[in-house]
Amino acid sequence: MKKIAVFTSGGDAPGMNACIRAVVRTAIYHGLEIYGIYRGYEGMIEGDIKRMQSHSVSNIVQRGGTILKSARSMEFRTPEGRKKAYNQLQSLGIEGLVAIGGDGTFTGAKLFFEEYGIPTVGCPGTIDNDIYGTDYTIGFDTAVNTALDAIDKIRDTAAAHDRVFFIEVMGRDAGFIAVESGIGGGAEFVLVPETKSDIDLIVNSLKNLRKSKSSSIIIVAEGDELGSAQTIMQLVKDRIKDPSKDFKVTTLGHIQRGGKPTARDRVLASRCGMAAVEGLLAGNTNCMAGIINGQVFYTPFKDCIGQPKPIVSDHLKLIHLLSI
Ligand code: F6P
Repeated sequence: MKKIAVFTSGGDAPGMNACIRAVVRTAIYHGLEIYGIYRGYEGMIEGDIKRMQSHSVSNIVQRGGTILKSARSMEFRTPEGRKKAYNQLQSLGIEGLVAIGGDGTFTGAKLFFEEYGIPTVGCPGTIDNDIYGTDYTIGFDTAVNTALDAIDKIRDTAAAHDRVFFIEVMGRDAGFIAVESGIGGGAEFVLVPETKSDIDLIVNSLKNLRKSKSSSIIIVAEGDELGSAQTIMQLVKDRIKDPSKDFKVTTLGHIQRGGKPTARDRVLASRCGMAAVEGLLAGNTNCMAGIINGQVFYTPFKDCIGQPKPIVSDHLKLIHLLSI
């Protein structure tokens, strides 16, 4: 293998740049030609591909976003789109790929490998942490810390006015950001899609809060089966029927995707980037390089996207126990 390419795809995540840097420099270290594909699968289809050097990734380890840009490509979902992408790679002689992204990225990579056989190793890049085969995904730690910073600030004003705040965090269909920011932020409740949310429990607990605790923080994962933070707030408000209680909703949104990656994300990204290139050279393919218990593991794409990654049930117990 002499020429490989790297791309980022799907929702960007802080630490993707650190991962690109590790891929580029590991490739150069091993004597490979390395190319950057811009805008994920879209750029692969259009041939938006440029040779990268060591200096191409200077001064990016600390930056959020992705210098290669990202996209969610509809065309790559079609056989015609994938054929165009393959032709573009063939014309440059690219023999291996590193795909940085989440489940959508790996679903595409798996299909592409099955059809065209270009060796591909993935790196888990998503703030959602919903990828099986790695303890954490690149960007998750930064997103949790961003959410936590916002929750701390909301807590100040919630306490000053004795208000109940419903704070909606990202995570798509997973509750990892909600659970970790809920523990760290001292939330009274955390509602996640992985478990059935109980409105009556929230209503009864809010009614019975001890006098000194008239403000509360309730974290709602965006994928919760009862709906958005706004919907859930309304359900609770309608049942409490206490005009003296003041309810507010804050949706944190895309601030959770940006910002400087934390040290943990930079280290994880650098390790996965190096492991992806070395994995390709060692003959691993159609799999993702992740870190489990501190060790690099290569997990087949089919498991990364097919196996559920459960949240730790002890964490939910912890939130409940510490909120008394
Ligand atoms: O997958 C990352 C993520 O930020 C999810 O948490 C969220 O549901 C989604 O992407 C938002 O996507 P978009 O940026 O396309 O609105």
